Amino acid sequence: MGKKGRIFSGMRPTGRLHLGNYLGALSAWVELQDDYECFFGIVDWHALTTGYEETEIIRENVREMAIDWLSAGLDPERCLIFRQSDVKEHAELHLLLSMITPLSWLERCPTYKEQLAQLSEKDIRTYGFLGYPVLMAADILVYKADTVPVGEDQLPHLELAREIVRRFNYLYRPTFPEPQAKLTPYPVLPGLDGRKMSKSYGNVILMAEEPEETRRKVASMITDPQRARRKDPGNPEVCSVFALHKIFNLEETEGIDVDCRRAGIGCVDCKKRLADKLVEYLAPIHERRRIWAKDPDAVEDLLAAGAAKAREAAAVTMAEVRHAMGM
Ligand code: AMP
Ligand code: TRP
Repeated sequence: MGKKGRIFSGMRPTGRLHLGNYLGALSAWVELQDDYECFFGIVDWHALTTGYEETEIIRENVREMAIDWLSAGLDPERCLIFRQSDVKEHAELHLLLSMITPLSWLERCPTYKEQLAQLSEKDIRTYGFLGYPVLMAADILVYKADTVPVGEDQLPHLELAREIVRRFNYLYRPTFPEPQAKLTPYPVLPGLDGRKMSKSYGNVILMAEEPEETRRKVASMITDPQRARRKDPGNPEVCSVFALHKIFNLEETEGIDVDCRRAGIGCVDCKKRLADKLVEYLAPIHERRRIWAKDPDAVEDLLAAGAAKAREAAAVTMAEVRHAMGM
């Protein structure tokens, strides 16, 4: 096989994916799928940890997420794509790991404290939410994955997963490798307002977005506020349109920089050039989406086939785990 190792990564099916998700996560996964044996889970149980009250949308979100992944270029011939809740071994391992995970490790997890404060309108002081990182550790360890491509925000969870591994291996017998994060090489993608592109800021361009919608959004972006008239020189450093040119229109960036500063190009024109680039960038993604969206049954079949293969791998680990624990 000659693979470099085994990968698990996942996303919570909480809605349509945007260009930040594509650039910061999916495009990296696509590149890894030949070099590693890859397991990619749509983690619907994790979606429950904060969204246990609105469960009826999760199923639909799972299918949409699968289509976003496929349209990004994940290839079911080269990686496994499946729904977490179709592989019950995740739940069994989560339960067993929960027995050996001290409460203090979970309570001091920075993401736990942050989320409790941020989502104060929801009651997430639940057993399930506290155990979020234990379930995440189970996702990874049930496949004995050694490599986990994630964003920086997930590093505390991976540290916890390694602590759980060390404790398990010490208490019973060496069973799991310590999983390592693989940070994506791409920077954080700014959104339409210059802040990090994020669903919660309402500043996103969706992967599935129609070209007209993308053009409309770009046209309404705020540029250098000091540049009131067309003949005023602009400052690209404070302009969110320019920030996106730097990522999606590298070859024209230098020229735009110069032209903006001497009022050689107007904002309307500059935005149009960005919109053209974005539409061009999204075209192959849309092309793949059209094919999959036509055939929802094929998507369900692919998830089922992915889960069947994932279960085989997970069953091997679980037999070993039960044996190690003397169950
Ligand atoms: P989220 O749904 O925000 O947890 O994001 C899912 C994945 O997309 C994570 O791996 C994030 O690191 C990545 N991601 C989300 N927003 C951005 C962004 N604006 N730029 C780069 N990566 C992002
Ligand atoms: N917590 C991750 C996120 O919010 C999603 C996730 C769940 C995950 N289980 C995982 C990521 C296992 C990597 C490995 O993005």
